[in-house]
Formats: sequence, C-alpha cells, structure tokens
Amino acid sequence: MTSGGLPRSRSIDSRSYGLSPSKAVTSDLSARKRRSSRGRDEPGSFALTKVTSNSIKELPRGTKPIRFIGEGAANAVFEIQVPVTDESATQFKGLLLRVAKVPQRGQKSTYDYLFQQSFFEKSILPVLGKYAVHQEMVGLRHHDIFEEMNNLLASLDVKRKKKFRGSFIGESEFGLLVEDMTAKDSDHFTVEFKPKWLAQSPSAPANAIRCRQCALELRYFITNPSGDRSLPIDKPCPLTLCDDGGAASAASPFRLAPGLATSPAREYIAKRLVNITKQPIMKELRRQQMLHDTTGPLTADPKDANFALAMTIRDCTCFAQISLRPSVEIEEGPLKLRFGDLDWKNPANKISHWRGLEAALINDGFYTANRIQFRGDYYNVPTLCALEMSSDCRPPATSVLQVDEEGKPQRQTRSVSAQGVHYIRTADVDEFAHRLLALKDRAVTTQSR
Ligand SMILES: Nc1ncnc2c1ncn2[C@@H]1O[C@H](COP(=O)(O)OP(=O)(O)OP(=O)(O)O)[C@@H](O)[C@H]1O
Ligand SMILES: [Mg+2]
Ligand SMILES: [Zn+2]
Repeated sequence: MTSGGLPRSRSIDSRSYGLSPSKAVTSDLSARKRRSSRGRDEPGSFALTKVTSNSIKELPRGTKPIRFIGEGAANAVFEIQVPVTDESATQFKGLLLRVAKVPQRGQKSTYDYLFQQSFFEKSILPVLGKYAVHQEMVGLRHHDIFEEMNNLLASLDVKRKKKFRGSFIGESEFGLLVEDMTAKDSDHFTVEFKPKWLAQSPSAPANAIRCRQCALELRYFITNPSGDRSLPIDKPCPLTLCDDGGAASAASPFRLAPGLATSPAREYIAKRLVNITKQPIMKELRRQQMLHDTTGPLTADPKDANFALAMTIRDCTCFAQISLRPSVEIEEGPLKLRFGDLDWKNPANKISHWRGLEAALINDGFYTANRIQFRGDYYNVPTLCALEMSSDCRPPATSVLQVDEEGKPQRQTRSVSAQGVHYIRTADVDEFAHRLLALKDRAVTTQSR
C-alpha cells in the first residue's frame, strides 16, 4: 500500500529532508528545528533521516471522520470517508487516520510527524518488515477534519475511558494513514494486545519469580486498582507468547482476548489464539527486543538509540486478524498479524521514569513476592506468570507484600522489613479489596490466616 503519484501530493526531497515545493512544509521544518533547539522534541542520537516515501498524499477536502476506532494516551484513530467523487478516493481505501491528541481542545499538536515517520522507515521497518502496520504521512493543512474529529470526540466523551475524557485532537500539518486492522466483516474478528517484554528484563533480580510485565501488572493491581484496568490474569504473561512449551497454566489463550472466552465458537477461537504464539514473528520480536537492550533500564544509556528502539518494540500493539470460518482466508491464510503503535519515545524525557519504575519493581518486591497480606489475611499473588509456574522457579522463603491504605502512616520507615515484608500502599483500598475477592471467587488466589 504505497502512495502513488497522486495529482494532489507533496513530494519529498531527500537532500533537505524537506518537502518540495510546498512552502507550508518548509515552515514546518523550521518550526521543527526551533523546537529541537529548545530541546523539546530533540531526537537524541537519531539524526533526522529522509522519509523515503516518494510523496505525501493530501487528504481531499470534504473527507469526514465517520467512526471513532480507538484511542490511547497520545493518539486517536478514525475511519474516514473521502468524497466518492474525488479522483483519489481509492488511494485511501483500507486506511485509517491516526492523529495525535492534546490535553485541551484548541491546542496545537507538538507530535513530530516527520520525525516519527522517518524513525518508522529507518528503524522499525528493518526490524519488523511486512509485520509493521503500514503507515504513511498525510497532509492535513487547515483541514476541517480536525473540527469534525473533535466534535465526534466531544459527542462520545462520556463513553471514553475516564482518563482520556476531555482530551482532543491537536491541529497540525500532517496526520498518519495506517493500515486498517479492524475486522472487515462478520466472518472475521481482530484481537488486539500488547506483547510487552517478551523476555525477562536484563536488570530484574536473579531471584525474580515473575517477569517484568507481570511484576508491573502486580504493581498496578495493588497501588492503583481501577475499574478501567484489566486484571493481571486477563492480560497475557509475555513469556507465554513465543510458544516455548512453558507453563501451560499461564498460557491460557483467552488471556489474549478475555471477551471471547464465552463465545459459542470458543474452541475454534482458542486454536486460532494459540496459533498467534506459533508465528515465527513473535520469536523474532523477542530476539529484537533482547538484541537492542542488553542491560535493562537501570543502567541503560539514554543516548543509545538501540535502547530507545527496544522500548518502542516492547510497547507496540499486536493486531491479529482472524477468520472465523476456516474456509474464509485473509491474504496470508486464516491469520494476519501486524504490529502498530510504534512511536519513538524520547529517552531524555523518559529515562528517569523507566529507571524509577524498574527500581520500584525491584525494591518493593514486585518481582519476588509470593504472598499478599491484607487486613490480617494472606493471599497468593494473583499474577499467573510463566516464570512463577516453571519448575526451576525458586521463590524466596518469605516475601510478603503487606497492603495498606494510602495516607495511613507506614509502620516502617523503609519499605521492606528484615523479615522480607514490603509495605505497599494502595490508592483505593475498597477497590483493592473488591478485586482481591473477585480473584478468590475465580480461584486465582486463596486466602489463609
Ligand atoms: N491500524 C489500526 N487498525 C485498527 N485499529 C487501530 C489501528 N491503530 C490503532 N487502532 C486502535 O486505536 C487505538 C489507539 O491507537 P494507538 O495505539 O495508536 O494510540 P496510542 O495513544 O499511541 O496508544 P498508547 O497509549 O498505547 O501508546 C488502539 O488501541 C486500537 O484499538
Ligand atoms: Mg503509542
Ligand atoms: Zn509473566
């Protein structure tokens, strides 16, 4: 899916990395340089390289957002309809519009589309090849679609996740067109999940009994339990995603798609979900994650472009398009896998967060604890990590997470006592109690005095 030589397109000049002959784009580039000199969007050790596409399409006037597909913390995605009378309409078939959000309506976007597209072409495509969701820039200069996307977001604000309400699309020169991975008809379904850290963090403690992502999910589960967030058991343990024949009890296929567990086609769907983990690209993604980060965040060099790339491919989204009937195939058989959400993250801005998180997971016992103590009772830790379930896992003699309400005075000045008890505070003690009991009912955790 490449942009052809459209009449209404801007071509890219590989010498200047700019777009010629459009004046508008030249000014975008100087604005980019101004931002960089202030260090805001400084691309670290990634030099801006040429965007290798031949041209950038302009979104035809009159194009409407006809469906809100989804949003994350930084971007929102829409299905669009180009006027059928427009000569370039077919060039937009099968593509969605992905645009960056801003905290408040009316603010301009600071997302650097040109740099991000360059990163995608220079660093992501060599790693993921055809498995990267196709993405290309699209010109949106002064387009009415911003107003219309924002009206659409405002109209469904109450249906959005609480944390996203009130955020809008920021106007910019560009947007991204991305390959549409939604199910195309009722014979198909799409499963979406984040593979996360497919191998253990290189800076995890040697006596860890859970992987980096399961440790992180445990931390969220305790410190900030919320109705919006899935339970750790309703998300996959990343160590189960490469079909290594590891702990079967951690590898339930429906951790990839909890909503489908009660489908009448359950058995067929389970086979298809297991099939995802058998795809060689999953092992390749793991290999690339390990190759690009050999130290882990504690000692990683924020100027190391490889580390930034590792963090991007740990945070991508996997889309699996699956045909519901064996006879109905999708391009490459009954399963089509693609990875999206591949934005470059600036290590200069993120490194202290990444390090702090890893330090907290280690020091507060989330990698190693095997019990939760809450209101006088003990519970199994409800994470179902493949590491925890493996036969060579050697849990420490005692490692307890004692959960208290936020604001309650801590019993110890340090978060861990000599007896291996970590004192952890939760932001919402009632929600935590509720979620812990729900897991007991699902036989995930047991309770003892
Ligand atoms: N190519 C695609 N096909 C189908 N749906 C998509 C596609 N890209 C994104 N989406 C939907 O839009 C949502 C938000 O997109 P995206 O992940 O790009 O946002 P984000 O803000 O970068 O997310 P995050 O906060 O995880 O970084 C996705 O979770 C998915 O549901
Ligand atoms: Mg993202
Ligand atoms: Zn795990």
